[in-house]
Amino acid sequence: MNLVTATTEAIARGAKIIRSGGLVAFPTETVYGLGADAFNALAVARVFEVKNRPQFDPLIVHVADKKMVDELCTAVNDRARKLIDRFWPGPLTLVLPKRAAVPDIVTAGLPTVAVRMPAHPVALRLIEQSRTPIAAPSANPFGYLSPTSAEHVAEYLGDKVDLILDGGPCPIGVESTVLDVTQPEATVLRPGGLPVEEIERVIGEVRVITGDVDEPQSPGQLPRHYSPRTPIRILKAEEPTIEPGKNIGLLAFRKPDRIGPFTRVEVLSEKGDLREAAARFFSCLHRLDKAGLDIIYVEPVPEVGLGRAIMNRLMKAAGRP
Ligand code: TXA
Ligand code: MG
Repeated sequence: MNLVTATTEAIARGAKIIRSGGLVAFPTETVYGLGADAFNALAVARVFEVKNRPQFDPLIVHVADKKMVDELCTAVNDRARKLIDRFWPGPLTLVLPKRAAVPDIVTAGLPTVAVRMPAHPVALRLIEQSRTPIAAPSANPFGYLSPTSAEHVAEYLGDKVDLILDGGPCPIGVESTVLDVTQPEATVLRPGGLPVEEIERVIGEVRVITGDVDEPQSPGQLPRHYSPRTPIRILKAEEPTIEPGKNIGLLAFRKPDRIGPFTRVEVLSEKGDLREAAARFFSCLHRLDKAGLDIIYVEPVPEVGLGRAIMNRLMKAAGRP
């Protein structure tokens, strides 16, 4: 079995695997990543293969210290430096101008590279001991829910990865906020674990792109061997009409007053706390998806703070049949 508790020895083994061009899944504070040596193009190619990504989307490169940023980027402007000082390690990914040494497969040919320092002791130690930055997308097959536990990764990718380091559930639970700081106007490309409001407190107003820049995809491209995902609908004010004999799930934001017509209900946060809701979001959806339901209704959450990241992922999930 390639799923092991992330002990000191296991992390050392993981670092060896990274150095020899292998793939290691590891915990971060946001979601589990599927990592490869960012300077080894062949290893990175295997990441895309294992994920079954139909096109080469650019990956986030994870660093353990600021020196590694200089190996990857030609320049770190003042704005980026301020954000790094304030929010790293943490769920903020910065898009910066890349060095030629960064393989094109990492950045999908872009002149920029996305970099972040994860706030997770296992991730940091793995990168440190690998002595190289680690390129890592979320450790899920293309088009599927992001993994927030080692079991999710094992279920999804199993033996296709050389090692899965189990560091327990991810405390934040949604992916990092991706911010492009190469443009005159800093732009959020993906809302995530660091609320936009907190970024604005440090560098002033930023632009937020609300379009689907993350993993653009059409359902027709999805490989056939994935088990069909349960359709998701955002719950409107009125109660949904239920066809007899259908099993309906509900992903509720707060504890609902009554169960209603639902076969199975998962509650993101009993007291309506957005941070707790984000941390539980993917695992609640995983459970509902495995419950043999015909459809999952989802109660919208307020679009402030981490709620923006949750709604961004919900709209995407609902957009796919
Ligand atoms: O929290 C996270 O960010 C997790 C953990 C593992 O760190 N990683 C993650 O990676 O979510 P992934 O591959 O699922 O998403 C990477 C996002 C995509 O939206 C991609 O388009 C964007 O980062 N990205 C990467 N490089 C970029 C670049 N050079 N310019 C613009 N966007 C970029
Ligand atoms: Mg992803």
